[in-house]
Amino acid sequence: MFKWFTKESAEKDIFSPNGRVKCHFSLKSGRIFYSVIKNDKLLVSSSALGFLIFGEEPLGDNLKLIRERQTRHTETIEMPWGEDRFINNNYSEGCFYLSEHKEPHRLFTLRFRVFDNAVAFRYEIPPQPKFQQISIKEELTEFNVDPNSTAWKIPAYQPDRYEYSYEKTSVRNLEHSVHTPLTIKTPNGYYLAIHEAALYNYGSMTIKLDSKYSLTTDITPLSDGSRAHVTLPFNTPWRLIMIADSCLELTTNRTMFALNEPPREDFSWVATLKFIGIWWAMYVGEWTWAPGERHGATTEHAKSYIDAAVRLGIRGLLIEGWNEGWEGDWLENGIHNKFTVATPDFNLEEVASYANRNHIELVGHHETVGFIDNYEKQLEAAYDYYAANHIHYIKTGYAGSMMSINGRREYHHSQLGVNHYQKTVELAAKKKICLDIHEPIKGTGIERTWPNLLSREGARGQEYEGGALSPSHACYLPYTRLLSGGMDYTSGIFDLENSVKRMSTTLARQLAYFVTIYSGMQMAADRPIFYEEKFPEEFEFIRQVPTNFEKTIPLAGEIGEYYVVARKDRDSDNWFIGGVTDEEGRHIHINLEFLDAGTYEVNIYADADNAHYRDNQFAIIKQTKHLSRSESIDLHIAPGGGFAISLQKQS
Ligand code: NOJ
Repeated sequence: MFKWFTKESAEKDIFSPNGRVKCHFSLKSGRIFYSVIKNDKLLVSSSALGFLIFGEEPLGDNLKLIRERQTRHTETIEMPWGEDRFINNNYSEGCFYLSEHKEPHRLFTLRFRVFDNAVAFRYEIPPQPKFQQISIKEELTEFNVDPNSTAWKIPAYQPDRYEYSYEKTSVRNLEHSVHTPLTIKTPNGYYLAIHEAALYNYGSMTIKLDSKYSLTTDITPLSDGSRAHVTLPFNTPWRLIMIADSCLELTTNRTMFALNEPPREDFSWVATLKFIGIWWAMYVGEWTWAPGERHGATTEHAKSYIDAAVRLGIRGLLIEGWNEGWEGDWLENGIHNKFTVATPDFNLEEVASYANRNHIELVGHHETVGFIDNYEKQLEAAYDYYAANHIHYIKTGYAGSMMSINGRREYHHSQLGVNHYQKTVELAAKKKICLDIHEPIKGTGIERTWPNLLSREGARGQEYEGGALSPSHACYLPYTRLLSGGMDYTSGIFDLENSVKRMSTTLARQLAYFVTIYSGMQMAADRPIFYEEKFPEEFEFIRQVPTNFEKTIPLAGEIGEYYVVARKDRDSDNWFIGGVTDEEGRHIHINLEFLDAGTYEVNIYADADNAHYRDNQFAIIKQTKHLSRSESIDLHIAPGGGFAISLQKQS
């Protein structure tokens, strides 16, 4: 029921399609609030909305409701690639047109979308005679969850961007701003993730606890102190609260994609990719990025890796360290990187034509070190250079604690960074190039509009092995970072006991990652010799596992402890299951009832009973069985271990 009190007071409920989730909008004494309820349980209590704007009165006081409208939307979205082919976009929308009841009578709209598994809203500010260009001082959006909720967080504004280990804490103990997705468990047992969707031309949202124990937005600032400079009309990104009854249900919440626009151009040329790379040899110190005796990216090495990719049945090859700029301290010298000039021992044209003849897709590489002015000056020529050589994939990188532009230092996640990354995605689309962005802006679902953005890093990946990754890390990711989309984790390292980079995993777990961590560009990161000569049988799983799935069904897990997931191939009737655990070994029972009817040849790669991530990493058992949906699989996962299963449909 719509209730009116005075013009400056109003209340309205918006119910999700199944009626279980309710968003309550209220206007009290000229100020606006919302709350979120599921099954009569309060999840987000009355939370304020509004802005502080430089040189203007705050926007969010003295308001009256001039009009409101509710509509229903029912749609199934088909995604060109990803973890689930079909996504529900079913919601009730409530639009509240607001105006100040005193001078300067500014207007804006609050648009809410209430889904069965999420609430989202955004501010839409139209241009007005004396209100056309604004600089946001603060966004005042609150997310008032119970301070006794549990949260899983990584800190914001730190030198390594998103590359931190997740920590569990009570919301009331959040001391610093944290990144989103921020996963939360409420005392009444619900799981929430606070995040944003469709982040364009605005600082990225971090979350902090204020002195009243309310979670509030802390938009990443620019160096001039502003959160964003915008020209009206302007819509903020969607503020998104995912809602689930269990942590597993949270992992398949795809509302973020539904809140993004469909593509405006033809992207039928985009294809997901599995690739190897001239890469890990540098991490373990065998080769170097910089030219010299042990230079990795030589014409000769590249051709031999292309031959290996052909033999391995892998479609792509990444080549890092091919261009000028890696000599000396590459982090310091990155400002001079050249993206169209190869080192003397690397002939890009020759390598590219050899790759073409062998039907191998090269993955180009641009390490910008965050010097985006240097990069932007060369951007068009650099993409043209690759495109002219039929290179359709580029991995980009922004190592460095800050971005640098004309000597100014800015956060990667500021409006400036957001706009830079967007420029690369749009230019790449124009040149029919797909991107895998390292040190990226977090995912907010823009891949729906720009499917050529196939992957990103944006969390600690395997390059942190050798001491800085604990087995629990990959058990946090599905419930936290991966809620914002796929990740290039650089899986498949088989050289587990390397003295420079010792892995904190078992061998079977390296296979598991290809299922538990989705990436539209999925790297088999070790050197070919480990796949061809040392572990060809295990490599067979990597060769088979798809990079594009029809559907994803999480089977078991707890945040930071373990995760088991099944995914069906987009292009066949085959299924793949992966599982990982933390430092604790455990027993897993998998009921196969989710399979389609018929028999499957089931290949299981599991930890042996005595496997352990510390001292018995290679103990693996491979078994083949024939099973149907009425049967089940029982497995042991070793401490720091995992398992991978392929199920090939027989009849
Ligand atoms: C960090 C990236 O994550 C890594 O993949 C890359 O090799 C280095 N930067 C150098 O660009």
